[in-house]
Parts: sequence; structure tokens; C-alpha cells
Amino acid sequence: MSDYLIELIDITKTFPGVRALDNVSMKVISGEVHALVGENGAGKSTLIKILAGVFRPDGNKSVIKIAGEEVELNNPIIAQECGVSVIYQEFNLLPYLSVTENIFLGRLPTKKSGIIDWKKANSNASEILLSLNLDIDPRTFLKDLSVAQKQIVEIGKALSLNARIIIMDEPSAVLAGEELNYLFEVIRSLKERGITVVYISHRLDEIFEIADRATVLKDGKLVGTLKIQDAEKSELIEMMIGRTLDETFPKSSNGTGKKILEVKNISTKNLINNVSFILHKGEVLGIAGLVGSGKTELARALFGVDSLTNGQIIIDEKTVKNIDPKKAVELGIGLVPEDRKSQGLVLKLSIKKNITLPVLKFFTKIGLIKKNLEIKYVKDHMQALEIKAPGINTVVQQLSGGNQQKVVVAKWLGTNPNVFILDEPTRGIDVGTKKEMYNIIRDLAEDGAGVIMMSSELLEILGMSDRILVMHQGEIAGELKSDEASEERILRLAIGE
Ligand SMILES: Nc1ncnc2c1ncn2[C@@H]1O[C@H](COP(=O)(O)OP(=O)(O)OP(=O)(O)O)[C@@H](O)[C@H]1O
Ligand SMILES: [Mg+2]
Repeated sequence: MSDYLIELIDITKTFPGVRALDNVSMKVISGEVHALVGENGAGKSTLIKILAGVFRPDGNKSVIKIAGEEVELNNPIIAQECGVSVIYQEFNLLPYLSVTENIFLGRLPTKKSGIIDWKKANSNASEILLSLNLDIDPRTFLKDLSVAQKQIVEIGKALSLNARIIIMDEPSAVLAGEELNYLFEVIRSLKERGITVVYISHRLDEIFEIADRATVLKDGKLVGTLKIQDAEKSELIEMMIGRTLDETFPKSSNGTGKKILEVKNISTKNLINNVSFILHKGEVLGIAGLVGSGKTELARALFGVDSLTNGQIIIDEKTVKNIDPKKAVELGIGLVPEDRKSQGLVLKLSIKKNITLPVLKFFTKIGLIKKNLEIKYVKDHMQALEIKAPGINTVVQQLSGGNQQKVVVAKWLGTNPNVFILDEPTRGIDVGTKKEMYNIIRDLAEDGAGVIMMSSELLEILGMSDRILVMHQGEIAGELKSDEASEERILRLAIGE
């Protein structure tokens, strides 16, 4: 019998205008944690969806073997029967059902009479979750769980389906600090049970911590598979982006100018409690904190999405009354939101339409759009952020996750705001483009904007910020200057010490 649990051989997949995968082969050893890495649009999610039976490969040259046997994964149910479960970033769970119902949907145990045996169902659910170290009442509505807990419920559901192979597509993008450690513990315990894990992530530190081997894709082609133990980070980066990359951050000129934004004792119904700080022209103010600490809620308050129950926002020495998003834009505030799918993009519209949405008035003269200018504008922005797509008219929905994120950023770059709020700006973005993004953020500050950057990646906060505010439970737990900040000091503040 073969040593490999999964063999994907010569997989090709074409979408209109794009060859997402070109003759890719990947072999996964039984019981290992196998990382799948590559730039945005490299084909990672597509390969996973083929293994999950969501997409069919082109032609008949492609072969898929599971435990040595050739299989036809024509749909997700067949894939599931072969033991494949996928944890997608957008969970497949139902918010208004209980944890138990989510785990056993369509498979709830019944009594002889045919009615559902809730006692048994709940205790089975509890047992699975406890084995993953999650001690919650299984009757809780799913919507009341944290993101990390939802992830564990998904994993529990996979186990209840007797999954042998659990695939995770960027699970860590929504986690930070302790939650990430918890996920790693769960992955290690899955491994101990003999379950094979395929793990997609753009964070190389994680891959070096958790993976046994990694397969690298680039532009839909296989670059190679390597053993993490024998590999260097720089080697992996070079395989991914085809060149070396120094991992340093762009230097800050530290020239902070006059005060452009002052926040005085603001509170909202949505977590924010008595927050005060000042933002200067030319500075990057990092906002650190664990998931759920209020970073996103702060962004929402500043942009007027959530209304203030108390306190003041002062821009250019003038107090702004009842800020809302429209007023915020007029006052020169730009926001790149965290949740790109629901807030940042119109998925059914083209890249061009999305990017020019906030600046359309610059291209319109008596109702007519200056087409050439508009096209140049969009092309310039696509180039600056290395957005990979067949053309400017490609519908955003068809882009890879990371490329969608870049479109959101491009959309706001052109509005030239004085205060730029970026909530997790590099989430889901590959290492090469991350560096570009850092340069862009530094340029924005250098050109005189004040930048507020929320991030749960400590290295990015430390590398980019002139000053750091650490949040804990909706409040500012402390402020650190860049030269006095360290991972440890941030974490201590973040956990409320
Ligand atoms: N449904 C689709 N229709 C058209 N093109 C698609 C579709 N899904 C993916 N693509 C294209 O296939 C290519 C590979 O995309 P894929 O989502 O696999 O990338 P990825 O490696 O997961 O990237 P990311 O790191 O950004 O998530 C991209 O060029 C993408 O635009
Ligand atoms: Mg993807």
C-alpha cells in the first residue's frame, strides 16, 4: 500500500480566462500536518476545493487517490464519505441553531418512537467538544460563540463525520494570541489521533511551528514540496515569490506633525468604553489587542458606523457632531474594514467599479465618466498592489481571497484621506505584497496622513507603529512608544495585566 493518504496527480483547473491550476501534484503522508502555501491567487483554495469535491478538475488526465485508491470526487458528499472535511473561513454553520444541531445536522439521534433524543445528542456533542478541550453548553446558539469556538465546533463536526483528513483554509486569519495557541493544541491532538491536516496560511511563523511538510504553489503551478525541519524561512519565501525578500519594515522618519484627530472619552453601545487618544499628521498609530478586545469596534466608532453614547471626536480642532460614515468621508477619514466581504466590496461588481466607487465624482463631468482617466486610475492601483486578475472588468467575486482584500485597499487609497484607518490591512495577504502594503502605509504617513492601524499581528504592530495603543475589553489598557514596546509588554497589556 502507498505511504500517502492523499495523492493529487496532474491536477488542472481552468476558469474563464484563468488557469487556476496547471498540472499540479501534491502528496500528503498519513498523519502529517501538510501546509499549502503560495501568493494570493496561486491556486491554494482551488486545489482544496477539488479535494473537497466542490470543483471538478478539467479533462481526464487528473487523478486523485485516497489511501491508494483512485476516487472520483464528484461532489462534496462523496468527498465527505472518503473522509475529507474542510473548515472554510466563512463557516458552514448556522447561527440560530444550537451547537449540537450544528454538529449533527441531519444526523440527530432519535428514540424508538422517532422523536429526537436531545439528551443523547447533547451529551454526544459535549463529549466531542471536550475531547477538543472546549467546555461549553452544547445547547448554546452558535451565534453566541467566539470565532475560535466556532472553529472548534466545525472541527468537532468533522470528527463526528469520521473525517480522516481535515483541511483548514486560512484558519488563523481570524485568531490572535491565546486563540492561536489553542488552535495549534487542537491540531496537535488531531495529529495524535492519526488525523491528517492540510493547513493553508500566509503566516510563515505558524507554518514553521505546526507543519511537517509544505507544498508551494506559484501562478497555478507546483514549485515543490519540502520538509519544514530542513528548511529555512527565506528558502520558503523564495519558492513562493520567486525572489528573496528581506523581512524588514520601511523606516519611519518619525516626523510627527500637528494634531489632526483627537478622541476624548468616547463610548459606544458596541464595547467601546471611555477611549481617549491623539493622532498626529505623519504618524502610524498601531492599535494592538486580542480578538474581541475592541479594535474593530473602535474603527467603527471613529468612522461613525456605531454612534457614540458619550465623548467627542475632534478633527482639525473642530468637534464633529453625530459622526456617520458619509460625514466621515467628507471630513477626510478613510476606513479599510476588517470584514471585506460584507463591508468593503460589492462582490457582484467589477474590480473597476469597486475601486472607483468612492472617487467617481473625480471622473465625472456633467454626468459623463472620463473613461480613459478612469481606466488609467484603476490600472495604476491594480499594479501598485499587484492585484492578480484577467482584467479590470473581472467580477470581484471571482478573485482569490487575498486579491479581494487588495481591491478594498485600492478603493480607499485614491480618496486621499487625512486620517486613514486600516483594520487588519494585511489579513490574508501574501508575504511579498505585505511588504508592498507596508511601504504604501508608510508613504501615506509620509505624505501627511495620520494612520491608525489595527492589527492582531504583533510583529506588524511592532515593525510599523510610531506609537502603540493596546486595547483590552473595549478600553485602552496602555500606550507604548515604539522604542519601549516589545511583544511581551504588548501581550501583558492585552490580557489585562
Ligand atoms: N469561481 C471562480 N471563477 C473564476 N476564477 C476563479 C474562481 N475561483 C478562483 N478563481 C481564480 O483562480 C485563481 C486561483 O485562485 P485561488 O482562490 O485558488 O487562490 P489562492 O491561492 O487561494 O489565493 P489567496 O491566498 O488570495 O486566497 C485566481 O486567479 C482566481 O481569480
Ligand atoms: Mg484562498
